[in-house]
Amino acid sequence: MHECFGQIGFGRVAVELIDALLGEHGAFNALFDTIENLAEAGGQLAQIESATVALAAELDSHATLEEEVLFPTLIPHLANDKLIAEMHAEHDEIRAGLERIEDARNIREAVDAVHQTLAVARRHFRKEEEVLYPLARQSLSHEEQSRLANAWAAARYVHIE
Ligand SMILES: [Fe+2]
Ligand SMILES: [Fe+2]
Repeated sequence: MHECFGQIGFGRVAVELIDALLGEHGAFNALFDTIENLAEAGGQLAQIESATVALAAELDSHATLEEEVLFPTLIPHLANDKLIAEMHAEHDEIRAGLERIEDARNIREAVDAVHQTLAVARRHFRKEEEVLYPLARQSLSHEEQSRLANAWAAARYVHIE
């Protein structure tokens, strides 16, 4: 069945990096909701913290891929590096926020940190989905995006050929 994947009538369409990253955003949104529900339902501190440890590892891996694979390829196409600098700063803000949740000493601190950090993360995703990713699709050729998707697949152990 693998041969059928990506077929839309005119031959095989290569996987492109931005599609893969958007798919990851979708999976994160579900995790964000889970952690937010735990916080709002008065979950145990340990539950919130262990869910956050898993989220932090995944998010760090997503952000690192953007930083090491997408941004360096995109920068030469941009007039300046303002947008990329903003993205780096937001990644750092999200990483610091996740650490605050993990280090919270009581449920109140954890719930506050969950709300603040998830708001920053959702805003960041939105900016990528509305600004950065469309810009990348516009600027990078299909070949470039497809080459970057191979780097993504290798990092994720996903077979796309
Ligand atoms: Fe990002
Ligand atoms: Fe992203």
